[in-house]
Amino acid sequence: MDLLTTVAQAHGAARAARTAGRRIALVPTMGALHDGHLALVAEARRRADVVVASVFVNPTQFGPTEDFARYPRDADGDAAKLARAGADALFAPSVEEVYPLGKEEGVWVDVGGLDRHLCGPFRPGHFRGVATVVAKLLHACTPDVAVFGLKDVQQFVILRRMARALLWPVEIAGMETVREADGLALSSRNAYLGASERAQAAVLSRALFEARAAVEGGERRGQALVEAVRARVATAPLARLQYAEVVEAGTLQPVSRLAPGQEIVVALAAYFGTTRLIDNVLVRVPDAAPSALAA
Ligand code: PAJ
Repeated sequence: MDLLTTVAQAHGAARAARTAGRRIALVPTMGALHDGHLALVAEARRRADVVVASVFVNPTQFGPTEDFARYPRDADGDAAKLARAGADALFAPSVEEVYPLGKEEGVWVDVGGLDRHLCGPFRPGHFRGVATVVAKLLHACTPDVAVFGLKDVQQFVILRRMARALLWPVEIAGMETVREADGLALSSRNAYLGASERAQAAVLSRALFEARAAVEGGERRGQALVEAVRARVATAPLARLQYAEVVEAGTLQPVSRLAPGQEIVVALAAYFGTTRLIDNVLVRVPDAAPSALAA
């Protein structure tokens, strides 16, 4: 696996691959890699000839009180995992390389109204930072396809919209959430959880799976789903729910009455101590309520 640390090296590697007629996939990450990240690398392998993974803890997507300084970092472990997962190159640039004009650069990708719901109101500027850094990573690595996890569904929808709006010749591909045996979505931040927090964190996916089952069973009221999620999360004494919302998948706008065939997302964020976890399920609303007489 090649290690690329400068934008010039990334450009050079991309040019060489393209000259050889090879399709390039990029998997952007912030490191502290787990099996969810590695599933993205495997998906990238299926979709392209050359797989580049990036590891960059992006300062502009962390708020002033967030965990940028203590975000888990494991450069050597990450490189070994990526090599084993079959990545061809690791792009691991410095902050100076990605923000050449410094903190006062002042050039941003504005994400429109897509950060008005879900995590947006609780993390002002977060998605602007994400969109801006992903734009930079796409320019550095010039992939044909970039693979992201649906665990961060708001991020995914924003990035897909960014690529479309900016006429970007890159496919933004989404990958299903990888989970622990008890349902907890894999996350680099799970490493912060104490033993009893970790045990109770499974309540989040349980609440979401119950909401999905309710929709499949005929529930069509967004508010009823939100209340059921709240009630389930409240059964875990260490969980502090920040939000639970039901939104339309394409626009991320809240849904009060679910329509047949509609794709919705039930999403939440919750704190366990100082650790903030997010999760969601994507559900297609069945075309008709199941008949009570059906076998
Ligand atoms: P990070 O949190 O490291 O996640 C990198 C990628 O892994 C994202 O696309 C995320 O959705 C995906 N991912 C995380 N947990 C997952 C899981 N359990 N199953 C499947 N995929 C999972 O997201 C970021 O970094 C950053 O915001 C980034 C896009 C790199 C921009 O800085």
